[in-house]
Amino acid sequence: MLKVEDIIARSPVIPVITIEKIDDCLPLATALVNGGLTVLELTLRTPVALDAIRLLRKKFPTAIVGAGTVMDATQLQQAIDAGAQFIVSPGTTDSLVRAVAACGLAYLPGAATPSEMMRLAEHGFTVQKFFPAEAAGGVDMLRSLAAPLSKIRFCPTGGLTPDNAMHYLSLPNVACIGGSWMVSKKLVDGHQWNEIERLAHLAAALPRSH
Ligand code: 3PG
Repeated sequence: MLKVEDIIARSPVIPVITIEKIDDCLPLATALVNGGLTVLELTLRTPVALDAIRLLRKKFPTAIVGAGTVMDATQLQQAIDAGAQFIVSPGTTDSLVRAVAACGLAYLPGAATPSEMMRLAEHGFTVQKFFPAEAAGGVDMLRSLAAPLSKIRFCPTGGLTPDNAMHYLSLPNVACIGGSWMVSKKLVDGHQWNEIERLAHLAAALPRSH
């Protein structure tokens, strides 16, 4: 079973993918993986999301495939059954944290305030998704958290773009970042696989500070 450290070490950027049509799943993942993004987060926001996770696990054995927007223990179980190798949630609840801790799956729990972050760290989750990053204070917020919450590292997500991505990645308490800019609805609906691959390539090459 993968650890969260294995996932954040693999790539500086985790694409946050929302699949509307299952037929888009393979060409989209091919573009991302060819571009160098091999950690794929599929949000559970559409009816085909679990099928997409199943398909990607089968067709891309060297990629790391996870489920995002996991809201509760029921969705957690569905994601596990589909083969998800990690779980991401926008925020957390006590029952979700208990369920994930019990199953041992790699988990990026969402937090936006110091109290939420401290509570998660008490449960042993010291790598957290900072969400919604731009709306919740962005780079300045993360910079302010570095000294008091020095043991916590973040994957900021929400509002990240090619323009601000490098500012986040230069922070010492940022492990990696997440975003959908390279897999936007417009690009996917337009089947712009070459452009997605190009954006993935640029994202995969972003430098990290550590
Ligand atoms: C998420 O679920 O993490 C966000 O929806 C991704 O945010 P973005 O679409 O602003 O990149």
